[in-house]
Amino acid sequence: MTDRYCVFGNPIGHSKSPAIHSRFAQQTGEDIFYEARLAPIDGFAAAVRDFIVHGGRGANVTVPFKEEAFRLCDRHTPRALQAGAVNTLIFASNGITGDNTDGTGLVQDLTTNLGTVITGRRVLLLGAGGAARGALGPLLAEKPALLVLANRTAAKAEALAEHFAADGPVEGCGLTALAGCHFDLVINATSASLGGEVPPLPADCYAPGALAYDMMYGQGDTPFLPAARAAGVTRLADGLGMLVEQAAEAFFVWRGVRPVTQPVLEALRQP
Ligand code: ATR
Repeated sequence: MTDRYCVFGNPIGHSKSPAIHSRFAQQTGEDIFYEARLAPIDGFAAAVRDFIVHGGRGANVTVPFKEEAFRLCDRHTPRALQAGAVNTLIFASNGITGDNTDGTGLVQDLTTNLGTVITGRRVLLLGAGGAARGALGPLLAEKPALLVLANRTAAKAEALAEHFAADGPVEGCGLTALAGCHFDLVINATSASLGGEVPPLPADCYAPGALAYDMMYGQGDTPFLPAARAAGVTRLADGLGMLVEQAAEAFFVWRGVRPVTQPVLEALRQP
């Protein structure tokens, strides 16, 4: 029987996950069916239970349910515990396991797809919400020289940096404290793009040859990328690669088979 998987979100209509996982299944010969499921804002847990009853083997979770998914799980992988959020659910007879593949997906995209070295480099991570939290552990595991976590609300960045202090050299601050600092890698993990905005950054925060990376993606550039280009940055990337890599990691968790991501990413980039 075909194994069933899905992604839960609200909204979920434009999710690329079904297309990504269908391509992975085709490529690896795994017999799975993967669909997008809209969960009511106040009905996430019920939607998950219903999917399990109807034979679901696992699920991805996207906005706004990642924290609720964390609370729903019977057990968590270490990286889900570190992120405090779950984007991958594994259903078994003994309960629900929660995992988080977002941070791994980000690092995989940065290092393998984009050829960026994190080890020994200066990294600026913008934002202090769920997206930033999920990225912190895997980024620090790459051993950057310094990771500065900067947020519009400084206190949130300071608290989050404090939480990860044992994992590596991380400092939290407000955006205005960045004057005079230079970074080899600047990652936008804020949700500013959703409102068509860009976190205000000093133009000289990009070191020569720096990569500007937006964890968001959309049709064409997200607002963060033209702002970086205007600051003289020539290496730019959106979060589509991260999306494909976090999906590949989830596929591996479920099926024990690692799909090749490059052709899938190329297909998604086609207009
Ligand atoms: P997510 O789970 O996507 O990270 P979130 O938890 O709501 O979403 O966090 C959104 C992040 O984007 C926060 O760090 C927020 O800054 P504040 O903590 O000051 O609210 C940041 N953010 C949202 N809009 C922004 C904007 N216009 N400029 C700068 N930062 C913004």
